[in-house]
Amino acid sequence: MALIEKRELPLVGYQGMNLVHERELDYLNSLYDAVVEGRSDEEIDRLFEEFLRDVREHFAYEEDLMRKSHFFAYECHSGEHSRVLEELEAVKKRWQNERDREFLKRYFKETFKPWITEHILTMDTVTAQWLNRVMAGFTY
Ligand SMILES: [Fe+2]
Ligand SMILES: [Fe+2]
Repeated sequence: MALIEKRELPLVGYQGMNLVHERELDYLNSLYDAVVEGRSDEEIDRLFEEFLRDVREHFAYEEDLMRKSHFFAYECHSGEHSRVLEELEAVKKRWQNERDREFLKRYFKETFKPWITEHILTMDTVTAQWLNRVMAGFTY
């Protein structure tokens, strides 16, 4: 079963961000499914790497929009992205050292899932509202 169903994903008022979130959901669910279904360590390594690459692109995309629109809380929002990226890198390292599937499952279920949901409902939502106000007339 997927970690996060598409219908559980909160929507924001800026369509480009919703599309990026939807894409990330696919990578996240593929990785989580591989862990739950007991696929090989190598397969999980590969899916983890793909997920991480997508997370970096997701965050870079939003940070670019924030810079272009001079978003008032840039430091706060991008700081949260950096913190989570470091956390994900640490989780990947621990997975590679310990090959502990229960730890991975728990992290994604109990830490990452609530985080991403909350992040979209708060910082991403405020950023999307700002983009709509400030960038009316611009297309990115
Ligand atoms: Fe986002
Ligand atoms: Fe964000």
